Amino acid sequence: MGTAILGTGAYLPERVMTNQDLEKIIDTSDEWIQTRTGIRTRCIGGKGEETYLLAARAAVSALEMAGVSAVDIDLIVVATISSHMLMPSCACFVQKEIGASKAFAYDINAACSGFVYALDLADKYIQADPGKKILVIGAEALSSRTNWEDRNTCIIFGDGAGAVVLGAVEGDRGVIGARLFSDGNLWSLLHMHTAPSCNPELLQSASPGVHIVMEGREVFKYAVKAMEEAILALLEQEQVALDAVSLVVPHQANVRILNKLVERLGIGAEKVFINVQKYGNTSAASIPIALDEANRASRIQAGDIVLLCSFGGGFTWGAALIRW
Ligand code: ACO
Repeated sequence: MGTAILGTGAYLPERVMTNQDLEKIIDTSDEWIQTRTGIRTRCIGGKGEETYLLAARAAVSALEMAGVSAVDIDLIVVATISSHMLMPSCACFVQKEIGASKAFAYDINAACSGFVYALDLADKYIQADPGKKILVIGAEALSSRTNWEDRNTCIIFGDGAGAVVLGAVEGDRGVIGARLFSDGNLWSLLHMHTAPSCNPELLQSASPGVHIVMEGREVFKYAVKAMEEAILALLEQEQVALDAVSLVVPHQANVRILNKLVERLGIGAEKVFINVQKYGNTSAASIPIALDEANRASRIQAGDIVLLCSFGGGFTWGAALIRW
């Protein structure tokens, strides 16, 4: 028995922001952004288009493909760092929005690695209780957490959501395994404040701002090394050869990170699915959005081994293998 992906879905907001649009608000150029990141456009949510709405639309699309009704979902896990409220969770809003009346629902925060973490969690629920159907969603409205005066960060991020429906199937299809890692010592290199939580006096002082703060060069260095290590550790753990992998669907951080990863692993670039040029870095949403796009474009066939890998704030990183 395996935990299979029964359906995939994605939702991207209609508004597209180009590099030329960014040239009008910060000191940058299309050429600089494309050379350093590969990003050309990103989608930006409209007024009132909260993270849970993006998540719910992706979920509905995944449910349709899976042929599963929302009322048959037992658990909804949303990976996000940009829910419009800290309480209730984004997942509870999704449950309400799609009418998944019997599901329990909660969010997880593992930044850009959130989807891989949530997939591993859902796999373990299903292994324990094969009757369960689970929605795993990655959803972000990062445009609301971006400092639009900081040219180091605002060129990178975008909004969107991706979702998968998971359920037990007979045979060897499904999640093969995962390896997950964290290192909280490196938190300051990529972070986002909310209100201080430890000292009431701090609440009197100015808030540092709910914005993504990033040491780009350091993040770049760690991201490539960490994703490579996670992939090699997972392949070793599951005794799967890299050659046996049909498609790598990585976290869409930026093209240079992904090119470096391809170079270090020595895999063919055609085996790596990249769509960051269109959507920018959508953090926890990037892998399920890419997975859905690859799936609908028939880049993944039954029996293929698909490798996911991620890196994000925390730091958190990891990899997962799925037999489609
Ligand atoms: N437009 C024009 N110039 C810029 C911009 C911009 N948007 N941003 C920075 N610059 C300038 C800098 O001010 C600097 O100028 P200076 O030399 O006069 O001081 C110069 O460009 C070089 O800056 P660096 O920060 O050294 O540029 P670098 O080549 O490292 O590229 C980048 C920056 C793209 C952020 C890179 O470090 C990177 O890709 N890092 C990884 C970040 C990432 O992907 N984060 C995503 C979150 S984590 C994750 O998802 C894995």
